[in-house]
Amino acid sequence: TAYDFYTGDHQVGIATPPQRHLVFMSLDVVEGTTAEQLKVLFARWSAAMATMMKGDPVGSVEPSRANGVPQDTGEAYDLSPASLTLTLGLGPTLFDDRFGLAGKGPRLLEEIPRLPGDELQAELCGGDLALQACADDPQVAYHAIRGLTRIGRGLVTTRWTVLGFGRASAGKGQKTPRNLMGLKDGTRNIKTDEELDEFVWVTDPDEPAWMRGGSYLVTRKINMDIEVWDGTTVETQHATIGRDKGEGAPLSGEKEFDTPDFKAVRHGEPVIDPTSHVALAASENNGGAKILRRGYNFTDGLNSLGQLDAGLFFIAFQKDPETFVDLQRKLGRVDLLNEYIAHVGSAIFAVPRAPRSGHFLAQELFG
Ligand code: HEM
Repeated sequence: TAYDFYTGDHQVGIATPPQRHLVFMSLDVVEGTTAEQLKVLFARWSAAMATMMKGDPVGSVEPSRANGVPQDTGEAYDLSPASLTLTLGLGPTLFDDRFGLAGKGPRLLEEIPRLPGDELQAELCGGDLALQACADDPQVAYHAIRGLTRIGRGLVTTRWTVLGFGRASAGKGQKTPRNLMGLKDGTRNIKTDEELDEFVWVTDPDEPAWMRGGSYLVTRKINMDIEVWDGTTVETQHATIGRDKGEGAPLSGEKEFDTPDFKAVRHGEPVIDPTSHVALAASENNGGAKILRRGYNFTDGLNSLGQLDAGLFFIAFQKDPETFVDLQRKLGRVDLLNEYIAHVGSAIFAVPRAPRSGHFLAQELFG
């Protein structure tokens, strides 16, 4: 599949059914860069994103002159578009007073506050800009990010990167995949256009025009204590999440898509523990609030103790970042899952609406 970059209202990579692979890069803008230079960068990035999503190289792979340097690095040359989507996000620090953009940021774009249970590492947090590449071929996603950073050379530097695989969320019409705890993840995700309108797309008329139709992206790099999880009984695993493992059904039901009954009682005990992950996160128990989850599994190999260094690169889209903050404030305090996970990275980005054909991302930001 090839997706069109000029999709209408919303950037790709949000409501797009999650592809199998992710490359997510957070970048910082070099001190001294001007708004004019950023404008040119956003224009060049937008054009390159549209080109690469079609499966085309960004310029010549093999210049005819022997002394020419290839414009496109070439490793995706013979590959199909592989459902590539490229998504740009703008971090809160882009709108401090370094680049002449102070006061021009989206209204709700603020750093995520410190949350209960945080074990954040500064080098895995934040960023002035974010590039998200998702594709069904990891080489296509990697090539795209490599090409975009090459275009940004001298203006942006990489802050942190996550390579994700085996998507850990489900979109419309997709079979629910599993995360690295072996659990089906994405069963009760946002899947309908009505839910997207209600919970994901920014509609506030007081937001800048380039943000209306956009969304707020929150990432959390969450390490799993996989060896500990792997040594727990299946009963504990079920109770922790509030669902069974094989079918992914709520403990109060039988089938994956049965609606959980958080009031069900057996032998005087709640069937779904009120501090299980789903009981705490479910919209029924959060005043109806929902977020769009679009995370990926990740691994960085082994840590310094020789344990598996892996987990969930959580990505959520919502029209108001406070929805995520409220949810995690609660989860971080009492979720039974906390025994097996640690939030080590955190970032927030405003994702502009898609540009119209012939325009570029966040164009109105530059007046
Ligand atoms: C549901 C796993 C972190 C929000 C679920 C489900 C699983 C799961 C297995 C049930 C299937 C489903 O409905 O998708 C995990 C793991 C995490 C993690 C392993 C960390 C490593 C988070 C975080 C948030 C979150 C940080 C938000 C702050 C939700 C929500 C649901 C959910 C909203 C749907 C609950 C419902 O409506 O029943 N998660 N999750 N999760 N999770 Fe997580």
